[in-house]
Amino acid sequence: MLIPNYSLLIAIQTLFFLSVGARLLESPPEKPPVARRALFIFGDSTVDIGNNNYIETVPGNRADYPPYGRNGFFDGPTGRFSDGRVIVDFFAEYARLPTIPPFMQPCIQLHDGVNFASGGAGVLPETNEGKAIDLHKQLNNFKAVQRALSKELGNAKAKDLIQNSVCFFSIGSNDYMGGYLGSPVMRNAFSPEEFVAMVLGNLTQAIQTIYEMGGKRFGFLSLPPLGCLPGTRLANSNNTVGGGCLEKASMLAMAHNNALSTTLTSLAHILSDFKYANSNFYEWLQDRIRSPSEYGFDESLSACCGTGPYRGLFTCGKAKHYELCETSDAYVWWDSYHFTERIDEQFARELWNGSSVGPFSMEELFFSDGGKEITMDGIIGDA
Ligand SMILES: *[C@@H]1O[C@H](CO)[C@@H](O)[C@H](O)[C@H]1NC(C)=O
Ligand SMILES: *[C@@H]1O[C@H](CO)[C@@H](O)[C@H](O)[C@H]1NC(C)=O
Ligand SMILES: *[C@@H]1O[C@H](CO)[C@@H](O)[C@H](O)[C@H]1NC(C)=O
Repeated sequence: MLIPNYSLLIAIQTLFFLSVGARLLESPPEKPPVARRALFIFGDSTVDIGNNNYIETVPGNRADYPPYGRNGFFDGPTGRFSDGRVIVDFFAEYARLPTIPPFMQPCIQLHDGVNFASGGAGVLPETNEGKAIDLHKQLNNFKAVQRALSKELGNAKAKDLIQNSVCFFSIGSNDYMGGYLGSPVMRNAFSPEEFVAMVLGNLTQAIQTIYEMGGKRFGFLSLPPLGCLPGTRLANSNNTVGGGCLEKASMLAMAHNNALSTTLTSLAHILSDFKYANSNFYEWLQDRIRSPSEYGFDESLSACCGTGPYRGLFTCGKAKHYELCETSDAYVWWDSYHFTERIDEQFARELWNGSSVGPFSMEELFFSDGGKEITMDGIIGDA
């Protein structure tokens, strides 16, 4: 005969009530539980958070020395091309993920995603060849991460993690600047239209490769008006009184953005469950460059850090003598080619849940299920 063990039952019940009681005392979570999605990042210096610290490259493709990182958010320079955080740091924060680690850093955790971006990188392997991790190599690194995840979690869970992840791209500027305008060989071989088509062709292949690996959610940072960077204004300062924007650089960026937007629309028709967030960064930034004071900035032409006209010579941190502004929050540009944390945060918010992101916002990519059951471990809000 089975005698119920009442004391054990009571002990279990007591434990149960105690834990429920303890949970009731905790403040309820702000949002209903949602699956935790990993974030994988592909790109150039706009989103490199330290991969180039580990590669052989030119000093201009590194940012692991002062005054980079000087706003104190991180403990010294990290390799971010900024006074502080860059756009993907904000996405990780809003998505309630820890900082996404750079692929090249030894012994990283893979579950929350990996950052493959590399300063100087282009979509095309010819761009800054040998001085950065180009997009093809970044994809190979992503495949290595997929294999490592399969080993660690098993094939099914690794597949699930990648299927539910968000992949973010910020790349292309280097192809048009150094890769095309700075390369007589490429300019002789290709018309601007042909070159844009080639960059887009390779970018589309990268998106398709990730889709075939299981990725379905993609975010994009379109290109800024490339002719209006302090570095390109400087290059143009002999031609234009007052250093206007270098129109041919801006035109390439605009052509790229239009082509990207068309490509994404058709991919969404062709690939089932393909979801993306895109936004017109070009116009958004142009407004701030034209009327900085309307958006709370004092300076939108010159960089905070650098030398020469517009502080457009890329000398921040490398030369012994560079000028450095007092308050980088008042500036759009941190150095001759890169943004301040302040403007990156504003654009991160715009892409996350602003009014001009579409067809999905980054927030929707992270926090909507699309009606599907999420089977991944690591549910936020699960005690
Ligand atoms: C947008 O997202 C940010 C970051 O999570 C949040 O603080 C803000 O309240 C959100 N705004 C809207 C309108 O949902
Ligand atoms: C990708 O770029 C290479 C040059 O690196 C070019 O030869 C090739 O045609 C491009 N692919 C597509 C699909 O455009
Ligand atoms: C502008 O012209 C001056 C004088 O010809 C020359 O020394 C300088 O290097 C030029 N600057 C640029 C950025 O081309």
